[in-house]
Amino acid sequence: MSATPAAVIVLAAGDGTRMKSSTSKVLHLIGGRSLVGHALLAAAHTGAPRVAVTVRAHRDLVAAHITEIWPEVIVADQDEIKGTGRAVECALEALPADLSGTVLVTYGDVPLLTTQALLDLTQAHEDAANAVTVLTAHLEDPTGYGRVVRDSDGSVQGIVEHKDALRARDEGGAHANVLEINEINSGIYAFDAQVLRASLAKVTTDNAQGEKYLTDVLAIARAAGRRVAGHDIDDRWQIEGVNDKSQLARLGKEYNRRVLQRLMVEDGVIIIDPDSTWVDADVSVGIDTVLHPNTQLHRATAIGASCTIGPDTTLTGTEVADGATVVRTQAELAVIGAGATVGPFSYLRPGTILGAHGKIGGFVETKNAQIGEGAKVPHLTYCGDATIGAGANIGAGTIFANYDGVNKHHTDIGAQSFIGSNSVIVAPRTIADGVYIAAGSAVVEDVGAGQLGVTRARQRNVDGWVARRRADTATHRAALEAEARHTSTTDQGAPE
Ligand code: UD1
Ligand code: CA
Repeated sequence: MSATPAAVIVLAAGDGTRMKSSTSKVLHLIGGRSLVGHALLAAAHTGAPRVAVTVRAHRDLVAAHITEIWPEVIVADQDEIKGTGRAVECALEALPADLSGTVLVTYGDVPLLTTQALLDLTQAHEDAANAVTVLTAHLEDPTGYGRVVRDSDGSVQGIVEHKDALRARDEGGAHANVLEINEINSGIYAFDAQVLRASLAKVTTDNAQGEKYLTDVLAIARAAGRRVAGHDIDDRWQIEGVNDKSQLARLGKEYNRRVLQRLMVEDGVIIIDPDSTWVDADVSVGIDTVLHPNTQLHRATAIGASCTIGPDTTLTGTEVADGATVVRTQAELAVIGAGATVGPFSYLRPGTILGAHGKIGGFVETKNAQIGEGAKVPHLTYCGDATIGAGANIGAGTIFANYDGVNKHHTDIGAQSFIGSNSVIVAPRTIADGVYIAAGSAVVEDVGAGQLGVTRARQRNVDGWVARRRADTATHRAALEAEARHTSTTDQGAPE
């Protein structure tokens, strides 16, 4: 039985100025999921009965977003007092006063941190009966981070912020050598709930930034005779935060690499070129499916087994059943049936549902279209607001005219019906089962089962027109030659 924290506090109240964005930093996306969404899920999956998030910058948008992801989350507002210590204090005020056990603190802008890392920290903290355990890492360049100051026995004395160490060095003070320490504070901790509450009450804002530092809790707890220790994490990506858009890209790329690794190793997916393949956090892909280069799978896209996806394909919130092939396609909120084929150069808009073994081919755009089992829309078609029966065939260049300039209307095409090439079906229209529509028809009336619908004018061939109206052109000469050939062959072959 692994240790479960009593609560997790996620700090997300900071201004995020370096992000240079009109959007809250924690609402930016990695793997299709907000930074704070990553933090919340890592916290939620620890099994902690309470998770609180402190908010302040972009308060209403951030609060609405996190309650949408997870309604049970406790939203705690930070007041005008600044600092990570104050942020935790505000979260504690929203948690029960008699909270006991282990409280974890994490950040809303550290997207690669896993639940496993949080559980390992909790376990190490409880096994050693610590009052505080800080997650640390050794960095070649620790600039900017709080440094972990250890005793000769290895226990942690406290954390000194980079800016305070600089100031101490300039003043020749007690922290003069701290800048040489390369063990850094990740900002992720396990605390004994009661020690945390009591220590925070003693934290002041007497430091280089005039903020209430959470890091001061370590020295205060230690001075009260409590055990304070460090817990090292090897995987540095997990503690790296997003401060600017360059880090957003860097962590986004690494996150994607991890998602692809999981798909290949755990789920048996074949990925031809991981460097050009992007898959969001919530996507699932079945065994032996091949993802070709330049494939992007977004949001809750779910792909079955033994499919061929890509190259050059972007699927968003799209379901693809087993054995389907989707090539050079853009699809959003679409459903593609088992064994169906889509592409190349197809555009499936929301509400497209393609039945098993159906086909949507080249230069076809579909929207809100239910296409039955084995039905085919193979070439150059716009198919919007339509229901197409099983086995129907929609000829090349067919247009479903669904819009009258004011409203959208629906078209029904029955099972096994055949729509001739270059037809326009003017909605609202019902074409029954087993119907033929002649090529080039503009269909403005319904057609019943077994009928042929044809709306073309009868063809006239006008003799001698080219000779009269286009004399001495290349066309005329070609016509004369053809006539001469025809006359000589009929002369030879015809009986006397
Ligand atoms: C903090 C730590 C530092 C550590 C570093 C790791 C302190 C005093 N320092 O520094 O030792 O090495 O993290 O990244 O804790 N936040 C709030 N309210 C606030 C201020 C911050 O909620 O008033 C949140 C931010 O949204 C962010 C997190 O706390 O998620 C960290 O804030 P940040 O300003 O980045 O801390 P650092 O100064 O980098
Ligand atoms: Ca930071």
